[in-house]
Amino acid sequence: MSSDNNAPRRFRSREWFDAPGRADMTALYLERFMNYGLTPKELRSGKPIIGIAQTGSDLSPCNRIHVELAKRTRDGIRDAGGIPFEFPVHPIFENCRRPTAALDRNLAYLGLVEVLHGYPIDAVVLTTGCDKTTPSGVMAASTVDIPAIVLSGGPMLDGWFEGDLVGSGTVIWRGRRRLAAGEITEEEFLELAAASAPSAGHCNTMGTASTMNAIAEVLGLSLPGCAAIPAPYRERGQMAYETGVRIVEMAYEDLRPSKILTRQSFINAIVANAAIGGSTNAQPHIVAMARHAGIEITHDDWRTYGYDVPLLVNLQPAGKYLGERFHRAGGVPAVLCELAGAGKIDTTCLTVTGKPIAENIQGRETNDREVIFPYDKPLMTRAGFLVLKGNLFDFAIMKTSVISDDFRQRYLSRPGHEGVYEGRAIVFDGPDDYHERINDPSLAIDENCILVVRGAGPLGFPGSAEVVNMQPPDALLKRGIKSLPTIGDGRQSGTSDSPSILNASPESAAGGGLALLRTGDIIRLDINKGTCDMVVAEAELARRRAEDPAPPIPASKTPWQELYRDHVGQLDSGGCLEMALKYRGVADETPRH
Ligand code: FES
Ligand code: MG
Repeated sequence: MSSDNNAPRRFRSREWFDAPGRADMTALYLERFMNYGLTPKELRSGKPIIGIAQTGSDLSPCNRIHVELAKRTRDGIRDAGGIPFEFPVHPIFENCRRPTAALDRNLAYLGLVEVLHGYPIDAVVLTTGCDKTTPSGVMAASTVDIPAIVLSGGPMLDGWFEGDLVGSGTVIWRGRRRLAAGEITEEEFLELAAASAPSAGHCNTMGTASTMNAIAEVLGLSLPGCAAIPAPYRERGQMAYETGVRIVEMAYEDLRPSKILTRQSFINAIVANAAIGGSTNAQPHIVAMARHAGIEITHDDWRTYGYDVPLLVNLQPAGKYLGERFHRAGGVPAVLCELAGAGKIDTTCLTVTGKPIAENIQGRETNDREVIFPYDKPLMTRAGFLVLKGNLFDFAIMKTSVISDDFRQRYLSRPGHEGVYEGRAIVFDGPDDYHERINDPSLAIDENCILVVRGAGPLGFPGSAEVVNMQPPDALLKRGIKSLPTIGDGRQSGTSDSPSILNASPESAAGGGLALLRTGDIIRLDINKGTCDMVVAEAELARRRAEDPAPPIPASKTPWQELYRDHVGQLDSGGCLEMALKYRGVADETPRH
């Protein structure tokens, strides 16, 4: 529709800039915007005010491209008849924020809700990139429920080192194993890391950033093809422009998140996440986005819809390639074509284009079968998350697409016991304890051990840390044993290729079974049954429960850490601020003057 014509709606921003009978108020609201050149005429024209939620900054290098892209987004907004207002979002930088960026998803969410509620903004462009910038923006858009569109900043260019593709993040996990095994020097390790990050953009692997941007597109929240365009490509600037144009139209159409996000669109996201080999962090983020949209995703949904899905996308860490190749292969629309052809997703779901997925993906099949595999000839079958439960936790996940053949052979293929693993637990209280003791010979860690880290969940860390992908002791690495099974109540990086049992809920700090585990206990994992237990008699567990089993956790170091701990839920339920979930559609009522 043409958006520049007579406005069919009265936008909420007019309650600020054009309030009937309140000239005093209007004058106050208008005057300061003029001091950078806006005119009362344009602000009172009835055109929509479009927020650009700017997540890029010097502290957010993965999203920094948006500082440039916003110029094109503004052009699009202006050309379509809107007025752009760009404003900063609390920075989230996965790799640098201590103790963990996980604290910031909910903080950025809170800040964004306040801005979108309290200022004269009619619709918003959510700029996304680094892992948690996507879910925090989508969560806030649902709470406020004004028209919103996701603009990914895009991945970095592919990294190359001595003729090999090196993916950001993934190269760190692989490099540190080679360093510990004495295969490379520290200097070479740093060179590898630098080579993996050759340009502006977020991680070029299918880590959490690429995963969450893809998920936003699957949910229908960004224009088709948006997620995969590398940050420096010309198409990225063009996408920024088109996104600016489209959000103005959406403002006129009043096309809000509540009209787009449905239970079915979240089930699509769960299915697509398996097909792309998506990050294990997608689990709490998908659940959090759904809950803020008022939609329930159960533990069983991951099993029912998410497990029996083949791996179609050949990207690191589950596969071989990186972001540029994925984009050229057709990106998310091409993956959706495969899933739609197999009847695995609901293509009637509405998207920001105003059209259903089915129309958006027409003619977008891949022409690169090395990168996007056919549904019936996939890279791997049953590649979704395995959901586990037992006396250690009520819920944990394992990413099956990164379980290597070597690992399956070594641990899951005992004749007559296929899929059943038993190992001796080595228990660490937090990552510092792990780093101090992993090479301690008295632990006698061998290939029959399973490494456990606790105190790494939302309450324990606090924030839930990406620390579960623990590597074996140096002595084992030198013998060629690249990974041991691991379990933890924290998370792991989406770029990691470790077959870990993650996001265990409830965490030990919340009274989960991990708190009762002792080094030397046997842990039994049954992949077929979906169970994971410590093989310890109930009487012994009762004794341990009675002797105050809670491992120590650090005190909160900032006011936000304390607030966070007071309100955060467990990872199985998305790690949300539980008190925030009751707020939805808060922009429907104009805040008081
Ligand atoms: Fe920011 Fe990977 S660290 S995208
Ligand atoms: Mg990460």
